[in-house]
Amino acid sequence: MDIQNYNRIVFFTGAGMSAESGVPTYRGRGGIWNEYKWEEYACESAFMVNPEAVLDFHELRRIEALKCNPHKGHEIISQLQNKHSNTHIVTQNIDGMHQRADSKNVIELHGSIWRMRCESEGLIIEDLDRGNYNKRHCNCGRWLRPDIIWFQDMLNEKTVQKATELIGKCDLFISIGTSAVVWPAAGYPKLAKSKGAYCLEINPETTELSSIYDKTIRSKASEGLSDIFSN
Ligand code: OAD
Repeated sequence: MDIQNYNRIVFFTGAGMSAESGVPTYRGRGGIWNEYKWEEYACESAFMVNPEAVLDFHELRRIEALKCNPHKGHEIISQLQNKHSNTHIVTQNIDGMHQRADSKNVIELHGSIWRMRCESEGLIIEDLDRGNYNKRHCNCGRWLRPDIIWFQDMLNEKTVQKATELIGKCDLFISIGTSAVVWPAAGYPKLAKSKGAYCLEINPETTELSSIYDKTIRSKASEGLSDIFSN
C-alpha cells in the first residue's frame, strides 16, 4: 500500500498494539481486567476510598511499561509519519509507547500514565522516566491522580473533538489491536467508514466491528504493518 495515495491518514490503536512490546491487554488471555477488578483500581470512587491502592496499581503499570520497548510496528508508523505529515495516531493506550518510537501527532483518548493531575488546581504534571511517581500529593496538599480516563469518567472534550474531526476527515483509517468495545472509541471505525475512508483492521482475532472494514488482516500488529507497508 502506498500511503502517498491518501491525503489524511489515521492509525487507531488499542492495547493489542502494545501487546508485542510485552504490555498486557485489558481483555482476553492475560488481560488486566481478568486479574484486577476495575471497580477497585480504575475509577474515581476507588480513588476516593483508597488512593494508595489505586496509585500502587498505576505505578505497577508504569514499572511494567518501562520494562518494555516499542516494537517494529511502532517504528513503521513513526517512519510513515516522517514520509507523510498528515498522519495522525488516535490511541486508547496510556503507556506512551508511540511517543517512545518518536511518533508525533498522537492523540491520547484515555490520557497517559506519565502525567498526574491535581483536581482542585487543574494542574497537569508530567511525571516521566521512573516507575514510582515522583510525588503523590500536590503542593496544595491534595492527592494527585493519574491523568487518565478511568471507568465512569468523562473523556476530555477537546481530545474527543480533535479525534472525531481527524477521523471524520481521514481517507485511510487503520485500526490496530483494539477490541472496539469501549465508547466513544468503539464508534470511530463506523464514523470513518460512513465518511468514505478506506478502513483496514489489523487484529489476530475477529472483533465485533470486523464486518464493517474494507479489509481485515488477521495478524499481529508488527506483522500486519510490515505486510501492508513493505515495498
Ligand atoms: P482490549 O484488551 O479490549 O483488546 C485488545 C485487542 O488487541 C483484542 O482485540 C486482541 O485480539 C488484540 N490483540 C492482541 N494481541 C495483538 C497483537 N499482537 N497485535 C494486534 N492485536 C492484538 O484493549 P482495547 O480495545 O485497547 O480503557 O481496550 C479499550 C479500553 O478498555 C482501554 O483503553 C482501557 C480498557 O478498559 C481504560 O482503561 C479507560
